[in-house]
Amino acid sequence: MKIAVLASGSGTNLQALIDQLHHDENSGVEIAVVISDRRKAYALTRAEEVGIPTRVVRVRDFPDRDAFDTGISEILDGYGVELIVLAGFMKLFQPAFVRKYRNRIINIHPSLLPAFQGAHAVPDTLAYGVKVSGVSVFFVDEGMDTGPIIAQASVPVFDDDNEKSLLKRIHIEEHKLYPQVVRWYAEGKIEIVDRKVLVKGS
Ligand code: GAR
Repeated sequence: MKIAVLASGSGTNLQALIDQLHHDENSGVEIAVVISDRRKAYALTRAEEVGIPTRVVRVRDFPDRDAFDTGISEILDGYGVELIVLAGFMKLFQPAFVRKYRNRIINIHPSLLPAFQGAHAVPDTLAYGVKVSGVSVFFVDEGMDTGPIIAQASVPVFDDDNEKSLLKRIHIEEHKLYPQVVRWYAEGKIEIVDRKVLVKGS
């Protein structure tokens, strides 16, 4: 199964997908292209280092957000991508893009959704004072972090945590959970019933 990984930043989740799936011949998963909206995203370097094609698509190079989405869509279709994996991609897609790829876009978020949606989940988690947080992997719908949840993992939040220490704990779970979910998808184990996601055999 050909996937695209979209990333705006460091790309540690991309690295986990490269190590655990792209480099595992038995996974049936190939990262066909890595797309970023930022030229300097370290995710691009990670992909280039292992010979995965990369593309940069910047909002400022298009007249509007629908045209930006179309620019990404043309690349995805050109590579025959079957699953779009957002990994720290900090741009929202317009409804037409979501409709075109319904149930074929997944995202990862550093909280137990629906708690702490949005771009500042980790500081929001610390500010609220919850004792447990975690990671969610979900199908992207027209809202922000509102789509059907595929899998979650929890982590404790300690009194002396700061953003760095909590994010470190969250990343450990992200790097296990995201490759696992992509593997399930490639194996055809994921079924969506209304907004409930069922994973066969789990
Ligand atoms: C990840 O922690 C992911 O959960 C978060 O961005 C980080 C990207 O890290 N995503 C969001 O906050 C989405 N709202 P990475 O570039 O090292 O994979």
